[in-house]
Amino acid sequence: MSMEQAIITWIHLVSAAVWVGGSLFIGAVLAPLLKKTSMSLEERIQMMVQVGRRFNKIAVPSLVILIITGLYNSQQVLTNPENLLATSYGSFLLVKILLVIALIIAFIIHVRIIRKDVEEKIISKKMTEGQIQKLRKKIIILGEIIVIISVVVLFFAALLDAGV
Ligand code: HEM
Repeated sequence: MSMEQAIITWIHLVSAAVWVGGSLFIGAVLAPLLKKTSMSLEERIQMMVQVGRRFNKIAVPSLVILIITGLYNSQQVLTNPENLLATSYGSFLLVKILLVIALIIAFIIHVRIIRKDVEEKIISKKMTEGQIQKLRKKIIILGEIIVIISVVVLFFAALLDAGV
């Protein structure tokens, strides 16, 4: 293995750590912690939105880097697309790529739910409790889907690495 390949893998791994680690931290540590505070529902949502926006500043570049370095790692297989279905490595890679596409779609919907105007409506209390709860449920489910897909992507990375 060349030094160049090692550096690409390293960048892929660091980006994976940022993306998966950060998402898990928000879902498994921050969200339950906020629930225990005396903050109102509006304040909690506002806090999560702020954390999310801040996290996206490193999460989105990480995802972009994962895709670029991932495509680099896949060059050999992708230049002979018949390998995608002919070998188990190719099939795992194909599933991994499809999962990443699903991840991107879930992420875009997740981010679009919490647009600036929606956030302002929540803060200025122009939304009923029921509307906020419905919105919150959607955000939480999409967040969970994102974390679950990310962890499953790691499993496919492990399958690729093990060469099963
Ligand atoms: C959320 C996005 C992603 C995560 C969390 C992720 C994670 C990982 C991890 C942890 C590894 C193991 C390092 C290694 O053994 O080399 C890996 C390897 C790899 N990834 Fe990704 N990856 C992501 C996206 C992608 C994408 C989009 C592609 C392809 C277009 C890709 C292609 C690869 C390839 C080909 C390997 C090398 C596997 C091997 O043969 O050892 N990855 N990925």
